[in-house]
Amino acid sequence: MSTQGPVEIDMGRVEEIIRREEQALRDKQPRSLAYQREASRRLPGGVSSSWQTAPPHPIYVSHGKGSKVWDIDGNGFVDYHNGYGVMVVGHAHPKIVEAVQRRIELGSHFAQPTEDALVVADNLAERTGLPLWRFGNSGTEATLDACRLMRAATGRDLLIKCEGIYHGHHDALMVSVYPSPDVWGPHERPNSVAQTPGLPQSYVELTRVVPFNDAEAVKRVFEEFPDRIAGMILEPCMTNLGVTLPEPGYLQAIKEICHANGAYLAFDEVKTGATVAWGGAIEAFGVTPDLACFAKAIGGGLPCGAIGGVEEIMSLVVRGKVEQVGTFNGNPLTMAASRAALTEVLTKDAYAHFDHLHDIIRTGVQAAIDRYRLPARITTLGAKGGVNWKAEPVREYRDALDIDERLSYAAWLWQLNRGVFKSPWAKWESWTISVAHTEEDARLYVENFEGFAEAITT
Ligand SMILES: Cc1ncc(COP(=O)(O)O)c(C=O)c1O
Repeated sequence: MSTQGPVEIDMGRVEEIIRREEQALRDKQPRSLAYQREASRRLPGGVSSSWQTAPPHPIYVSHGKGSKVWDIDGNGFVDYHNGYGVMVVGHAHPKIVEAVQRRIELGSHFAQPTEDALVVADNLAERTGLPLWRFGNSGTEATLDACRLMRAATGRDLLIKCEGIYHGHHDALMVSVYPSPDVWGPHERPNSVAQTPGLPQSYVELTRVVPFNDAEAVKRVFEEFPDRIAGMILEPCMTNLGVTLPEPGYLQAIKEICHANGAYLAFDEVKTGATVAWGGAIEAFGVTPDLACFAKAIGGGLPCGAIGGVEEIMSLVVRGKVEQVGTFNGNPLTMAASRAALTEVLTKDAYAHFDHLHDIIRTGVQAAIDRYRLPARITTLGAKGGVNWKAEPVREYRDALDIDERLSYAAWLWQLNRGVFKSPWAKWESWTISVAHTEEDARLYVENFEGFAEAITT
């Protein structure tokens, strides 16, 4: 470690890099730029989800294989985006291709259960220790089910969530996801802020907000609203703020606070599930919640969602008191892909592979941070990793607000123009590696990071 403090980054130079790198990208992607104009005739912004576009323009993908993806201009990239962390199995993994092909020939949808669902549920139960599972089609559906179940089990309406965590786009939780300082309220008692127009204010007020890594704040909300809180939902480790770990004892403390107040705890493991460890965050941090929401990585690349829970809550579904439903729940194709992903690809060996590659990346990036005295920190966990462009540690959402987005944007462009594709909203997002990533892929990331470090400091 350097004993001197971080250097002052010349933001004029960073802006110059942004201009140069944006032009280099435009020069490489003429077809993508033309397609965006064409697609915008029918698709708002030229995309199918608002988070598929980000400056300077959407990256239109033609195909992927292993650790790589190709854009529609024919440029290839090592994929660290991996579809927001879904493709931990790598692209077009032969086991997934075979499972889906075999299944589609037998019919792809019945709205009736197929036998793969039990194998998937058994595997998730083994990974998490939670006995009962139901499926859905997205992370949003899984967290929606968690909210409904906690409310139904307690007969209470209020929920607690952490400021700065995204749990999907349903009304209960699209609250204080990225609130700005002019509306976020006092740190000790954050306001509940609608993330989008279209949320009824009365719903927003049912969701109380606390800072991540602050168990005392959770206690205060229970004191302020006695017997009114159904439960708390959180990502046990934040993955949209680089990788922000829970402090020792935090998760256990909030579980005890919830239970002492007759309320439940739900983990949103949509991103951490089957990625940060074989048993997800439950294994990584040694705390088992009452409910866990899974999605993304467990589907092997097909749309998926899952909610698992203890009998005390899931018995509401068993007894038919709460109807957990959906036409595509447990869809045969998804279950076939999920079975192959969980039982044949994301075996314990896969997690040793992630650790090995992340040792290479973490060591190399940390060496560059030290050598160039960068105001940056790297954290990795299982298949996930992230760099926060700030010298001080980030413990919760408000700690990250003063990170200069020009720096993280320039770092993203730099990697992209040198063959590494990271999630477009790279200021916040963690990256995800896959079983198909190689040491060479890891070294490319480090090499690019070193080049960027040199360019912004010398
Ligand atoms: C932590 C977390 N929960 C829930 C969701 C919602 O998942 P989906 O986009 O599949 O609805 C996301 C999506 O990125 C997420 O990151």
